Amino acid sequence: MSFNDWVNERLPVGQAIKDHLTEYYAPKNFNFWYFFGALSLVVLILQIVTGVLLAMNYKPDAELAFASVEYIMRDVWGGWFVRYMHSTGASFFFILIYLHMFRGLLYGSYKNPRELIWIFGMVIYIAMMATAFFGYLLPWGQMSFWGAQVIVNLFETLPIIGESLSQWIRGDYVISDITLNRFYAFHYLIPFILVGLVVLHILALHQVGSNNPDGVEIKKGPKGNKWSKDAPADGVPFHPYYTVKDIMGLSVFLIFFFAVVFFMPEMGGYFIEQPNFEPANPLKTPEHIAPVWYFTPYYAILRAVPSFAGTQVWGVLAMGAAIAVFFFLPWLDRSPVKSVRYKGPSTRLYLIIFAVAFLVLGWLGTLPPTTGYTAMSQFLTVVYFLFFFLMPCYSGTGDNKGMSGLVLFVISVLLYLGALFLWWVQTPDLALSIKVLYTLLGAAILLYFGVRPGWIKPDAVKPVPERVTG
Ligand code: HEM
Repeated sequence: MSFNDWVNERLPVGQAIKDHLTEYYAPKNFNFWYFFGALSLVVLILQIVTGVLLAMNYKPDAELAFASVEYIMRDVWGGWFVRYMHSTGASFFFILIYLHMFRGLLYGSYKNPRELIWIFGMVIYIAMMATAFFGYLLPWGQMSFWGAQVIVNLFETLPIIGESLSQWIRGDYVISDITLNRFYAFHYLIPFILVGLVVLHILALHQVGSNNPDGVEIKKGPKGNKWSKDAPADGVPFHPYYTVKDIMGLSVFLIFFFAVVFFMPEMGGYFIEQPNFEPANPLKTPEHIAPVWYFTPYYAILRAVPSFAGTQVWGVLAMGAAIAVFFFLPWLDRSPVKSVRYKGPSTRLYLIIFAVAFLVLGWLGTLPPTTGYTAMSQFLTVVYFLFFFLMPCYSGTGDNKGMSGLVLFVISVLLYLGALFLWWVQTPDLALSIKVLYTLLGAAILLYFGVRPGWIKPDAVKPVPERVTG
């Protein structure tokens, strides 16, 4: 009996390789958007490996943490390289994940039967944000300290439990050595939970099969290809076809990645913020506190919502809702087709508007708030939420525009009017002309995407080919 047989009788390694690689039939028409899942996996592993190496010299102690990072940078052999790979890797991880998620939006990959893949993805996204947040405190620089201070203080705005909750998170009345220790523990733990979540994510994917740029299910098409008579005709074995393609994608990615690691690891203050080169000082607040870029769209939403009825909790709730609303996407999108290639003009247009709004919010979140910037953030926050709330209306084709579309449209109108009211009252110093301009723009979006008057054609979809193209 060969060693292979001996193992396989006890653990189905060979079968797993077949099921997930050599006999996993992926659609033949994947394009570059399909690189980002595999690349995210590589970066997750890179983060764990570099993280463990950093942990060998890092000291989770408020007295020693900053100096231990400097020690890694200057004295540990290759320490600067490992640290810059880890800090750059964190930002690149989010770039990849945002592209990966956007691909989902483009091709309707969240739609039936892939809802669970999407939900696992969202849990992964939140776990990634938690990991990044905990990790950012560890170098114990000025921005580590004050960034954590601002975020933990957000919990204080919650009614009744707020104060005790934020103390419970910190383990102290202020961000302190105790906080640093527990953040370190979580920062080390969550990536391993992430690995487990990614396994579930991929198992769920392989259960139903991958979507593709046409959004046409290859499993439902004719059967039989040159590898197997039961496999979908338009599928190719993941290995070697996509392993080779992904290695090409990885090579291009690594060029960009190492260009940043070697030549611009701070990325002009976006990947490592300047105040973090100073040790944390609880007595000196930095001039302007902003989280790292991947949080800034939500930070802009947080700051956009004014305090009302004596509490700032509304901003915190809006920020939470801005993330949570993604979970509902599979049920908000009522289009009979998956891919943007065959969706109607309204859906395409709003997807572009949404992507731009998200990017501009991200930019606004890095800036110190001024009246004009805040007004912009407020407008874009409304645009952001209407993308989701109006989706049942504009993604329907007319014949499938049922009750829930109407209900959500009414809710959207009410939310818009409420936001508008708050905004007019809360920004007395904003020029009237700007207020009128934003109000009209918002109303136009609401009407166009919510009602689509008769002269705008309903979102009729283009005919979908029976089999994938290309
Ligand atoms: C550590 C993070 C993640 C890793 C390693 C990962 C990995 C993967 C891989 C390897 C695939 C198959 C290849 C591909 O389609 O690109 C995939 C597919 C998918 N992922 Fe992720 N993913 C992650 C996070 C996310 C997140 C945050 C979301 C969304 C919220 C998401 C949603 C999806 C969807 C919908 C698919 C199916 C795409 C399709 O078949 O068109 N993933 N993921």
